[in-house]
Amino acid sequence: MANQPIGIYDSGIGGLTVTQAITSLLPSENIIYFGDTAHLPYGDKSTAAIQSYSIKICDVLLKQNCKAILIACNSASAASYELVKEYVGSKALVINVIDPVIDHIKARYTQKTIGLIGTKKTVFSNVYKIKIEELHENINLKSLATPLLAHIIEEGFFNNSISENIIETYLSSPELADIEALILGCTHYPLIKKQISNFYENKIEIIDSSEIVAQYLAAILSKNILLNHSNSESYKKFFVSDYTQSFEASTKIFFNEKINLSHYPLWD
Ligand code: DGL
Repeated sequence: MANQPIGIYDSGIGGLTVTQAITSLLPSENIIYFGDTAHLPYGDKSTAAIQSYSIKICDVLLKQNCKAILIACNSASAASYELVKEYVGSKALVINVIDPVIDHIKARYTQKTIGLIGTKKTVFSNVYKIKIEELHENINLKSLATPLLAHIIEEGFFNNSISENIIETYLSSPELADIEALILGCTHYPLIKKQISNFYENKIEIIDSSEIVAQYLAAILSKNILLNHSNSESYKKFFVSDYTQSFEASTKIFFNEKINLSHYPLWD
């Protein structure tokens, strides 16, 4: 099973941040990526809607014989992780992007105040709050929904004055006052990490899940004897539920290579 691919999905390009970290850490792994561009953004959708998209995507990934499925989206992790885990059962490992970050926080932020930004789905689900409370480490979490950010990033508006204005407006909010670290609770946000760090004058840690999740996945694959040690060249295949030029352009920028992109409508 070890040479079977890892399936990764998100609503759009956000999960590519995690995929990039995975391919740098585990270059021998084969990757099947699904961007559900037809249903983007997930952060504004109901739990039931995200659950039904997730199940359809898992069917696609299971058909591709994935040994593991990574929900590379905080909104989908919040809305559908438990359901996906049950649905997939023993056919593949299922990993979300929230638990690895909780482990990271547990090790470093006892008795501290940390911030969280994410989509409405992620923030209002209280998933981070609940999991942090369960740690009993006296960590104070301050959260703010920042729904515009995934949209502008998906449209390629980052590292410019538009994103700077929006980031500054959100991060100046009193809801995030006096934080000692900030969780990027949306996989799109590593693309604006530099601008966020600049806002805080590099004085606080910006917790970017991509590398944390890649390390976590490597540990889980290793524990299950599923790391791919084969010498043959690895492949990456990308599927989108709706073709968008910006997805193709971003994917090329991320991986700097010719992209194997297929249109896979979820409603057929
Ligand atoms: N990248 C996603 C997340 O981590 C979702 C953004 C969206 O589709 O709203 O939440």
